[in-house]
This record gives sequence, structure tokens and C-alpha cells, in this order.
Amino acid sequence: MGVLLGRGRKTNRYKKKKKSPEQAMAPCDRKRLLSRDMAMDLGTANTLIYLKGEGVVLHEPSVVAYDTKSMEVLAVGEEAKSYLGRTPFNIKVVRPMANGAIEDFEITQVMIRELMGRVQKMGKFIKPKAVVCVPAGITQVEEQAVVKAAAEAGIGRLFLIEEPIAAAIGAGLDIDKNRGQMVVNIGGGVTDIAVLTLSSVAYSKTIRLGGDTMTRALMEHLLERHSMQVGENSAERCKIAAGSAAPVGGLAPYTVSGKDAVTSIPRVLLLNPDEVREAIQEPLQQIVGAVKEALEQTPPELVTDIAEDGIHLTGGGAMLRGLGMVIEKQTSIRCNLAEDPLTTVVKGTGKALENIKFYKKVFV
Ligand SMILES: Nc1ncnc2c1ncn2[C@@H]1O[C@H](COP(=O)(O)OP(=O)(O)OP(=O)(O)O)[C@@H](O)[C@H]1O
Ligand SMILES: [Mg+2]
Repeated sequence: MGVLLGRGRKTNRYKKKKKSPEQAMAPCDRKRLLSRDMAMDLGTANTLIYLKGEGVVLHEPSVVAYDTKSMEVLAVGEEAKSYLGRTPFNIKVVRPMANGAIEDFEITQVMIRELMGRVQKMGKFIKPKAVVCVPAGITQVEEQAVVKAAAEAGIGRLFLIEEPIAAAIGAGLDIDKNRGQMVVNIGGGVTDIAVLTLSSVAYSKTIRLGGDTMTRALMEHLLERHSMQVGENSAERCKIAAGSAAPVGGLAPYTVSGKDAVTSIPRVLLLNPDEVREAIQEPLQQIVGAVKEALEQTPPELVTDIAEDGIHLTGGGAMLRGLGMVIEKQTSIRCNLAEDPLTTVVKGTGKALENIKFYKKVFV
């Protein structure tokens, strides 16, 4: 991917596709003509934006499609994701974030700018303040990349907040309490496990796998067991429709479409939910193992608190059926799934933006 990006060139090689008159009119209504402070969850799978005083205004896949010849950006977000696995040679579809960190700097910056531009007018002089969440175990280099990408995309003052803290705030927990609270945020490419008390992290562990790792495990399984190649979007739909962490009952067999890996002939396969569950077990067990390890490393008083309140699950990956049951069975602690797991982090980041003074000690 690096080769395609023309590293070392001074200028941004990406040209923005011209907007249709409808598109040009759509993104900014009157009240958004001045840049507004915002919160952003720049995730491996999805990017969400929260505007101050307004709430969550954008939820799009973190995907960009561009023409490799003209370097023109063709689509960002949902439309780009729909191109995955369906493009001609000259079009490349990329996810610029990998496992919670920026993998492709230039494309990430283009993506942030485009998505911000959809929800408000970006002024040259008045730059919005932003709170952006980052995985708890992010390296300094990765953190610097976020700071730089945000600045180049037009953000003025930037505050960073760790994803599990944002998740806790978004889940409505009182993080100021003198009480241990465990949050497990399972995203697309990262799982953050944190024990919080007194607005600080008593223990945290980041493992670089999540829901997308399960999707890939399913794709690999289909290739190895059935000699069948399936696109990422199809595999994700199959995981969501027929996947589970434990036998849950009531799941119907799912027909997945793809092509034969040897003959390239189109194929369909009726998959039993038991098989989908088996296919995603490895990454799932790594997540459960990391939760158990976190409990081992946490002091007994805090574990007692966690046992009383339950483990709080957030992030899209946590929506896998039966996941809470599996954690519960292996830790003997009840799990609470957040109300809307895909938006918990951005809502918590937004709450921190609305109350910057109150939350100032939690910013990185
Ligand atoms: N109903 C569902 N069942 C199982 N998995 C789901 C469901 N809905 C979404 N997912 C998975 O959730 C993941 C995306 O979650 P989320 O948007 O929280 O990730 P992210 O914040 O972009 O990633 P990260 O935090 O790792 O950078 C994807 O892997 C997606 O397949
Ligand atoms: Mg996330």
C-alpha cells in the first residue's frame, strides 16, 4: 500500500472528486457554517463525529477509495466500503487505520478532512477544537501520527482521551468514584481492557485484535475448509447474521456467496451457525483470555467491586451474540452490554468535549 501512496512526495497527491450540486449543498446547514468543536472516534472500522451541543452527526466506515492513476479520491465512508472487492484494476479501496493506529497517514488525513467537511464548514482561520480518542496502549509514535493528521486536517486545539475511559463515560459510569470498574471495548481492530478507579486507569491492556479479526478468521476458515474465497463485506454480513460466541439457539443457517478458490467459478455455501462459531473461536478466546489476565493483575478490592457491578462491554465487536455469556462463564462475573455499543465511545468522547474542564485530568 505504501508504494501506491507515493511516499516522499511533497504535495498531497490526492485530488478530491468534484461534488454534484446536491452533494455540494447537502453537508452544511446554516448553523454549521461556522466551525464547531467536535469529538471524534477515529476507529479501525468506523469513524464517528460528535458536534458540540448537537450530538453524534456522522457514522461512516473508515474506508477510502481512490483512482491509482489520477490519485483522485472517489469515495469515503459507506460508499467506499461498498466498493470493497468490486473494483477494477485502477481503483484501490483502503482502510487507512489498522488495529487502532494510523497505517496510512496521507489517506487518514484526507479521510478526516472529508468527513469533517460533511458535517461542518472548515474555516481557514477559526479552527475547531477537538477531542479524539485513541487506544489505551497506543505508542508515542502512533499518538504523534494522530496529532499530526488532526492538525493537517484542520483541527485547532486537540485533546486525546483513551478509548476505554471514553467508553466508560459513554456507558454512563461515574469514573470519579473510588470504586473499581472494568470496561472492555471490543472494536474492529483493537480490544481495550481497563480497570478504572478515581478517574484513573488502575490496569489496562490493549490487544490488537477485534471484530474484524473474527471476520478475517471466518474468511480464512472458508478458504481452508471449503476452498472458497469470500469478500470481506460478505464475510462480515455472515458473521453478524449467523455468528455467535457460544451456542445461543434460534440462529438460521446462512448462505454465503463467493468463488471457488481453484476453479474461480461462483459458489454459494449454506453455513451452519455452529461452524461460524467455531471459525471465530481463536480471536474470541484471546479476548476472553486477556479479560481473565486483567482480573488476575487487578488488586482484590477492585475485583470485588467489579464482581458486584459487572464487566461493562462496549464497541461493535461486543455485539457478537453470546460474548457476554462466554466471559461470564469463564470469569464468574456478569457482563453488561452498553445500550448502543457502536456509539458509546464517541458519546463518551463528546461528553468529555462538552465538559472539558471537568474531564481535564483524563486527557492524555
Ligand atoms: N451485530 C454485530 N455482531 C457482531 N459484530 C458486529 C456487529 N455489529 C458490528 N460488529 C463488528 O464491530 C466491529 C466495529 O466496531 P467499532 O465500530 O466499535 O470498531 P472501531 O471503533 O472502528 O475499531 P477500533 O476501536 O478497533 O479502532 C466490526 O468488526 C464489525 O464487524
Ligand atoms: Mg473503537
